[in-house]
Amino acid sequence: MLQADDKGIRRAAEIIQQGGLVGIPTETVYGLAGNALNGSVSRKIFAAKGRPSDNPLIVHIAAEEEARPLVKEFPEPARKLAAAYWPGPLTMVLPKSELVPMETSGGLSTVAVRLPAHPVANRLIRACGCPLAAPSGNLSGRPSPTTARHMLHDMDGRIDAILDGGPCGVGVESTVLALAEQKPRLLRPGGVTLEMLQRVVGAVTVDPAVLHKLADGAQAASPGMKYKHYAPKAKVILVKGTAERYREFVNSKKAPGVGALCFDEDQHLLKVPSVPYGSGNDSAAQARELFDALRELDERQEIQLVYARCPEPEGVGMAVYNRLIRAAGFEVITL
Ligand code: TXA
Ligand code: MG
Repeated sequence: MLQADDKGIRRAAEIIQQGGLVGIPTETVYGLAGNALNGSVSRKIFAAKGRPSDNPLIVHIAAEEEARPLVKEFPEPARKLAAAYWPGPLTMVLPKSELVPMETSGGLSTVAVRLPAHPVANRLIRACGCPLAAPSGNLSGRPSPTTARHMLHDMDGRIDAILDGGPCGVGVESTVLALAEQKPRLLRPGGVTLEMLQRVVGAVTVDPAVLHKLADGAQAASPGMKYKHYAPKAKVILVKGTAERYREFVNSKKAPGVGALCFDEDQHLLKVPSVPYGSGNDSAAQARELFDALRELDERQEIQLVYARCPEPEGVGMAVYNRLIRAAGFEVITL
């Protein structure tokens, strides 16, 4: 574990320049970072995460100009979005240049580029002098880590170091927007909301896989959408309904092994073991707390079936809903 001070950042940069892997804080979640321009480093990242190699990595930069050499063109909508939301939790998918190795782009002709807002990430990228490929720092299939300790739990012995920059502010991964086609298309909702995107570029299509299960045999626009995600050990079922009906429903299911993933204000009224993930009227708090809550559920051996309170899928809540519906394997009960 490295302190996120000058010395720690210098050490992390040396490791990356020598082809090693370092866990890094960003404003969204911790990432597993290495030199994005070195294909064999990207192969090491896939191996450390246990991630299928056709699921491309996000390339992180420290200034907008650094996006230009990575892409064939940086079109008008990308320029406007960069001006509005970079640095910040927005990843743009654009046709890639020759500079980006196929390993990094998972064999695709596009590349995902992001300029993170975390000062430690920014300083590290500058110190390395190269863009950093960084998927979320979890083992494939686990919730993304929002603290250095969570990252250590998944990656101990698999990577060279972790820079501890404290807990992440946003808590869910960046918004991913495809700009390599006619109309901008939202592939993954995050801290930069649909409304914020529409305000800058007008119409944005929401890929059906954001809110619904991908039909059998359908092609995923973003390879990440076809893989099982955020699956806690316990079975999770998403429950839609008012606060009152949710509490009645959950309490009627009281039995050994049954638990709840609820809003803060539900907790004291539930008769089953529960883990809260923020207040019902605060989507930002839900985003910040969701992955920690999913990890905590994994540690509660006594809980095998979880009834999760359904978030309002508006604003940042769309990102919370998108992660939770995957954790639930798309199983929903409407009261
Ligand atoms: O907030 C974040 O984005 C974090 C931090 C560390 O920056 N990173 C992150 O990376 O969440 P990862 O690899 O866990 O998720 C990247 C997502 C995946 O679903 C992947 O399929 C998609 O972005 N993606 C990457 N490149 C793509 C491309 N060229 N076309 C379509 N989707 C792409
Ligand atoms: Mg991930």
